[in-house]
Amino acid sequence: MTQTIFNNWQPEHSRLWGQIPVVQPHNLHKSPLFTDEALAELIEHYPRADYSLVIPGRRDQDHHHKWREGDIGEASGAEVLKAIKEGFLWINLRNLPKNSEKFKQLGEQLFDEMQANVPGLHVKNSEITLLITSPGAQTYYHCDVPGQSLWHIRGRKKAYIYPAINPFMPDETLEQVIMQETEEEIPFEPWFDDHALVVDMEPGMMAHWPQFAPHRVENYDSLNISITTEHWTSEIERNYKVRYANGLLRRKLNIAPKSTATTGMSYLSKAVLQSLWRRSGLAKKHIWCREIDFKLDPADPHKMLDITPFTLNPGNS
Ligand SMILES: [Fe+2]
Repeated sequence: MTQTIFNNWQPEHSRLWGQIPVVQPHNLHKSPLFTDEALAELIEHYPRADYSLVIPGRRDQDHHHKWREGDIGEASGAEVLKAIKEGFLWINLRNLPKNSEKFKQLGEQLFDEMQANVPGLHVKNSEITLLITSPGAQTYYHCDVPGQSLWHIRGRKKAYIYPAINPFMPDETLEQVIMQETEEEIPFEPWFDDHALVVDMEPGMMAHWPQFAPHRVENYDSLNISITTEHWTSEIERNYKVRYANGLLRRKLNIAPKSTATTGMSYLSKAVLQSLWRRSGLAKKHIWCREIDFKLDPADPHKMLDITPFTLNPGNS
């Protein structure tokens, strides 16, 4: 982009970044990368291993976190967009910088600006994912391991961002997420909402929250297009390592860890412990393996065709 991405950064935001949720205006929604034509083109040529097309569960259903995953099949990019606009689906396109030179450049600009805005922020690794979601679709209560930001591009959605502390994110639950022990939803109580920052996300708004802060999103009645960015810094890595080691101590040695410090001898020994464990082969490697059992019907955006199921393991592709 020729203009800056952040467009109203103030000195106080540098100090608040990563400490509490920060909501900022941005210019990404003006980029030609997000027109229907550009998105259709991107979808049509996207590697199979790097996208998920999903029929999510509905909130009023039991096991609403269970979903069905499908394939674009012979549908064109425009037909995929139409199916999402008129149906109840979402698609995410992962690893955008790897798969698109234009998104690679966008990512470089975005993280350069982020680091220029936040003194001391040194991003070691980053990722960008595109999310295209149907009217009324939801992303259920969850937390992510790296630093994460949501950049809203088109449509309207409501984001709920919760404190990254007990009881919203109990230590044991966070350790399960970090050790990839569960694909189940993390526990949520409706009264959590009374303590959430609730933001109506309009095109041109972004939100960044502290590491491990749980969040969820509800689309209003419109097609929604957003990107999420993830980033790793030394501090984010240290938080990951100490929580991983705490999970090990709790589960394998029956010790209730009290400290989440990321400096000092206790931290160093935990960093070694989790590293040895993860290299030892004892760690139960979570295999992200999904069954793909439908494809879109190009003739009818409301119809899904059952296919002979196949499995996909993006991590090994
Ligand atoms: Fe998230």
